[in-house]
Amino acid sequence: MSKAFEREVTFEIDGRTFSFATWSDVSALFAIRLLAKYDRPRRGCESGLCGTCESLVDGAPTRLCQVASTSLDGVSIVSGSRPGR
Ligand code: FES
Repeated sequence: MSKAFEREVTFEIDGRTFSFATWSDVSALFAIRLLAKYDRPRRGCESGLCGTCESLVDGAPTRLCQVASTSLDGVSIVSGSRPGR
């Protein structure tokens, strides 16, 4: 039996708008890369340690692997907040 989607989210990243259904136990990084098929946020440790996925979410540095994908609704993201990423 498949798990029902928990929430529809719509957000902007690097000037592009995405919308999809997701679950709270899926990270924003996973959802952006695999559900939206947008790979600009880089993937690293996926445990909040390396900072590779860090992006600006509504202007605040955020490690996307550490936030739920359901929190993406209505936000604006600039991927790669660290220089050189
Ligand atoms: S992938 Fe390492 S902090 Fe997110």
